[in-house]
Amino acid sequence: MPPETAKFAKKQRPELAIRTAVLKQASDSAVKYLEDLDARPVAPEPASVDDLLKLCAPLPEAETDPAEVVRLLSEVGGPASMAISGGRFFGFVIGGCLPAAMAASWLVNTWDQNAGLWVATPVAAELEDTAVEWTRELLGLPEGTVGGVVTGATVANFTALAAARHHLLGRAGWDVEADGLFGAPELRVVIGDEAHPSLLKSLAMLGLGKKRVVRVPVDRQGRMRADALPHLDERTILCLQAGNVNTGAFDPAGAICPAARAAGAWIHVDGAFGLWAAASPKYRPLVKGFDLADSWATDAHKWPNIGYDCGLALVRDGAALRAAMSLRAAYLERGERREPADYTPELSRRARGIELWAGLRQLGKAGMAEIVERTCAHAQRFAAGLKAAGFNVLNEVVLNQVLVSFGDADKTTRVIARLQNEGTCWCGQTVWQGKTAMRISVSSWVTSEDDVELSLAAMIDAAGESSR
Ligand SMILES: Cc1ncc(COP(=O)(O)O)c(C=O)c1O
Repeated sequence: MPPETAKFAKKQRPELAIRTAVLKQASDSAVKYLEDLDARPVAPEPASVDDLLKLCAPLPEAETDPAEVVRLLSEVGGPASMAISGGRFFGFVIGGCLPAAMAASWLVNTWDQNAGLWVATPVAAELEDTAVEWTRELLGLPEGTVGGVVTGATVANFTALAAARHHLLGRAGWDVEADGLFGAPELRVVIGDEAHPSLLKSLAMLGLGKKRVVRVPVDRQGRMRADALPHLDERTILCLQAGNVNTGAFDPAGAICPAARAAGAWIHVDGAFGLWAAASPKYRPLVKGFDLADSWATDAHKWPNIGYDCGLALVRDGAALRAAMSLRAAYLERGERREPADYTPELSRRARGIELWAGLRQLGKAGMAEIVERTCAHAQRFAAGLKAAGFNVLNEVVLNQVLVSFGDADKTTRVIARLQNEGTCWCGQTVWQGKTAMRISVSSWVTSEDDVELSLAAMIDAAGESSR
């Protein structure tokens, strides 16, 4: 900070007092929320959800005191939240929020930076650049790979596939950004039969179609079968998956990528959570071969526990990504350094790269490896405990995902409902290759061995209760 001068002196603005008061109030409420987490059911009580009607009323005519808004939010909103920031939420693939990332989010909101342009916010632009590079290194991706920080893996898939579309059509003499897809040479998109629906949504948004894909059969774990790959060429986008949302399994990139590269195909990897296995020496062998791809989508709000929302699109050929994403206008002043908006679909956007920087800075390489290894060990313990209790674990537990069946579909559904209502922990449901299963995804840095034991006992209890 420059020394205070008459020109730049501190002022006692009235807004300062208001902002200070609500920040302190929010901080007190947030601390209380965290303190109470273990003593509440993971899912909100139905009465608390019903209470939301108090907040979902017509917009008042008059202004409301910000302190009253914060009070309403914390007193009515908080109890209707899912206890995701505790240690016993195992639904979907949802990480927690590291202390440094959580606090950085408060600072980012206080600073109110628009992360689109370097000139608008050097701190957001520079920290995002650094955090993207840290991520590239943690994921073991090729040097020179560039990327953008987006809301999550869905948009990361979209962003990276836009670069793929630009590159393959450009090579065929077609400028897709200028001329669209009307009359364009055909591209072929090859995906595994177990591709995540967000990949299909991204293809649809890019005009490549959800149905116009070639689906490759998968094995019992959901891995693409390398022996069943169709012909690949320089007009093909081949989409691989690192970490199946149900089983955690990885497509055999080592067996597929060398030939796909030689054929001139663009290889894209949806690695929403699985790619982070690369951070751990123990689990790194699972990602072998994925570094041969051309683009990668991943999430930082899942395994790295950066908090919502934060995903990354990473692309080997920076020119392709910039060509697909950048925009120009006289008023959008460009500097000499990386311009964040050249790498993402948005122009204006919140500075989530700062939260990513903060969380990774807290963890370091060792901390990221530790989260991966600890959560995978918890998944192993769940699987062993459930098997020992006589239940059927449907997947090879290679990562942090466990699929368990408690009997037929009705019984499994009843156990899940009982468990969710009982409140010790929260797990969701899925159907895996025709079998109804409960999903356990251990993704939060907060989950302790005690949480696992308590939750395991609640699962076994719920299964016993459901048979009575
Ligand atoms: C493999 C895979 N891809 C994409 C996604 C979508 O991620 P997001 O919800 O962050 O957009 C998920 C979510 O679990 C996933 O597991």
